[in-house]
Amino acid sequence: MNTSSNLIATEQRLGANNYKPLDVVLTRGEGVHVWDTDGKRYLDCLSAYSAVNQGHCHPKILAAMVEQAGRLTLTSRAFRNDQLAYLYEELAALTGSHKILPMNSGAEAVETAIKAVRKWGYEVKGVPEGQAEIIVCANNFHGRTLSIISFSTDPDARTGFGPYTPGFRVIPFGDAEAFAAAINANTVAALIEPIQGEAGVIIPPAGYFTRVRELCTANNVTLILDEIQTGLGRTGKLLAEEHEGIEADVTLIGKALSGGFYPVSAVLSNSEVLGVLKPGQHGSTFGGNPLACAVARAALKVLTEEGMIENAETMGDYFLDGLRSIRSNIVKDVRGRGLMLAVELEPEAGGARQYCYALKDRGLLAKDTHDHTIRFAPPLVITREQVDWAISQIERTIT
Ligand SMILES: Cc1ncc(COP(=O)(O)O)c(C=O)c1O
Repeated sequence: MNTSSNLIATEQRLGANNYKPLDVVLTRGEGVHVWDTDGKRYLDCLSAYSAVNQGHCHPKILAAMVEQAGRLTLTSRAFRNDQLAYLYEELAALTGSHKILPMNSGAEAVETAIKAVRKWGYEVKGVPEGQAEIIVCANNFHGRTLSIISFSTDPDARTGFGPYTPGFRVIPFGDAEAFAAAINANTVAALIEPIQGEAGVIIPPAGYFTRVRELCTANNVTLILDEIQTGLGRTGKLLAEEHEGIEADVTLIGKALSGGFYPVSAVLSNSEVLGVLKPGQHGSTFGGNPLACAVARAALKVLTEEGMIENAETMGDYFLDGLRSIRSNIVKDVRGRGLMLAVELEPEAGGARQYCYALKDRGLLAKDTHDHTIRFAPPLVITREQVDWAISQIERTIT
């Protein structure tokens, strides 16, 4: 057996079977490319679910990480460190947020927001204790913790893990009237993805978020946008909310906040919501650690200074045009915003996974989602020539 077969066999023997990866064993990455253990190069069109927006192993983020790792990695929040204040300052300047709470994974940021808006609901809005409701959308994906999967509508994510956390009201995504109807006196917040990524890059109708924003303001409901996947340049704007010219009350970011080097997430909000959390009420040993802060600072710096957000917009439009120009009778829909793109195949095509394997053989890594959809989300540093190459591989695979 060669190295990769050995490694795959060991994973299967010893690892929990909670993922079904494509059988490609990667060992190195640089920019938009990754290499497998046999030395074959691939164009990465997943970017670790949009965590590697800045490209693999970005040298400036790497340098910041190495420098900080040699100096101080973890203090816990029992003491202060000399990186956190800078991260706060830089994030606040970039996003206009007044309060920031750093965590590690995306799911932790979501959990943090849920805790904060519930407390805000009781202490500020005056909702009776234990009655807070949060509006969420069908086909959402916000992570894997128990409270989060309690309001998932995906049977794989939810079934068998009860008893579930109450306090969530599920409505259809993109339906402003359903949203209006779901609000009641106990509604403290709405938690929504600007574009549903895991559901297959589902973009809501134009005007949806404008109406949702109006309804939230009119009813004193906190609008939480989960920008963990859509944020930090992925859709061609720093935050996807900018496409509709709205501002969330609470914004969740993660993934690309570290350029893929380290789990770093954050809750961004106005003072009122995060202001309800007092010492001892929430935290994390690793949240806000100096290594995470140094990495995140470098990741944000290269994202903005190296024009990655603008590139996501131009290359995203170009990629989308390229995908739309492909004539294939198995393509049902092509959609996307910035470099968050998807091709939905006709059910008769026999499932997206086989096409992902065919793409892999051609040197392009992409991931199927929900049986019939292939997502394309390369690092934001992709060039026109690399998009051309990707389109020609995709065209040959699906025609
Ligand atoms: C929109 C959204 N929210 C939350 C998460 C969860 O992030 P994590 O896997 O870091 O917990 C994801 C991950 O894919 C996501 O896409």
